Amino acid sequence: MSKRFAVIAGARPNFMKVAPILRAFTARGVQPLLVHTGQHYDAKMSGSFFEVLGLPAADVNFNVGSGTHARQTAAVMIAFEEWAESQALDAVVVVGDVNSTMACAIAAAKIGLPIAHVEAGLRAFDRAMPEEVNRIVTDSLSTWLFAPSADGCANLVAEGAEPARIHLVGNVMADSLFASLDRARGRRPAESLQLPARFGLITLHRPALVDDPDRLAMVLQAIAGVDPDVPFLFPVHPRTRANLRDALLDAPNIRLTDPLDYLDFIALEELAAVVVTDSGGVQEETTLLGTPCVTVRENTERPITLTHGTNTLVGFDLERLRSAVSLALTSSRPSLPAIPLWDGGAAERIVDVLLADPPVVRFIPPGLSGAAGFDGPGARYGT
Ligand code: UD1
Ligand code: UDP
Repeated sequence: MSKRFAVIAGARPNFMKVAPILRAFTARGVQPLLVHTGQHYDAKMSGSFFEVLGLPAADVNFNVGSGTHARQTAAVMIAFEEWAESQALDAVVVVGDVNSTMACAIAAAKIGLPIAHVEAGLRAFDRAMPEEVNRIVTDSLSTWLFAPSADGCANLVAEGAEPARIHLVGNVMADSLFASLDRARGRRPAESLQLPARFGLITLHRPALVDDPDRLAMVLQAIAGVDPDVPFLFPVHPRTRANLRDALLDAPNIRLTDPLDYLDFIALEELAAVVVTDSGGVQEETTLLGTPCVTVRENTERPITLTHGTNTLVGFDLERLRSAVSLALTSSRPSLPAIPLWDGGAAERIVDVLLADPPVVRFIPPGLSGAAGFDGPGARYGT
């Protein structure tokens, strides 16, 4: 009998991560249960992604909604525990670093369910970020640690995770991007939004920036001031909207929209002259697309996008922000080699490991063991 897996999604950046995993399971004849925690619930933060990513309807939705960290986390834990105890599950798959990820991991661990963490090992080394706490807790509880890049493996080893739990599989964000890009281009959102050939794209939603209205205003005005002839499209995350009141008074070339659906967003990300962001996923997608990215954060848990990609970290320094945006607007695009394993096949590697019998110990693709942050050569399938 095939194993019963539950795959958890709760917030916007989870949907594009679970879609390829569900497809890879289905291709192997396994039908996992899809759990939606309801952390995000607006049509433009949740429903639209089911449509464009071809996700099946969730088997259950806990509808937890918004709340303080403790309230939201607790609501997911309570709902997940009650549901999971009636499901005879064999394992739980969690993705990313949102509150729903950690909440389901804690609840699963307490009822003895093995956990697979997709996007394991990423660290910003900044515990003031709620996501960093979620990452550390989730990784510490997971049986399978699926790292997107070698830095993730190295971080896990440094924290004492047994190498046998760590699998270097690549990035599921790449899987979704490559699977969706042709359809996205066909939508031609730049035309329907009447954007000129040269435009910029902005996404900002981290509390460290958007919960401070003055900082948000200064950042937006700095971006807008680089070249008043370049329009910037800014799909506004619901967390950010309340603090935009006065931020745009001196930024007439910034155009606000509601959050875009995934296909429109990635199509614009590819065409944009520059993307200014504090999103984790957007740092990765811009690297995959070769679009210059300026990240308004003091740190990143995705350093490979700095060393091997198109990302520039400017902190909250307005001068560095202006220079990085200006450079992107005036330079030709870099041509960079692809990052190993960001190739569209991560979900298949994950599902291969999860379904392997006998179990796989420490999967590292051939040729990458030396770069994977381990001391010795990695074990492969069946070892
Ligand atoms: C969450 C994640 C963050 C992720 C982001 C992706 C945590 C701790 N944070 O941040 O890691 O990068 O999602 O987008 O898990 N709201 C709505 N409609 C919705 C959802 C939220 O209006 O559908 C508003 C509510 O006012 C809510 C606020 O946005 O209080 C924040 O939502 P929440 O899920 O708590 O955190 P995010 O900032 O979205
Ligand atoms: N995204 C989207 N519409 C938008 C903004 C972002 O579809 O208006 C997508 C983006 O392509 C990426 C994901 O949302 O796949 C990133 O999610 P988010 O920035 O909310 O969270 P983070 O990655 O920072 O956790």
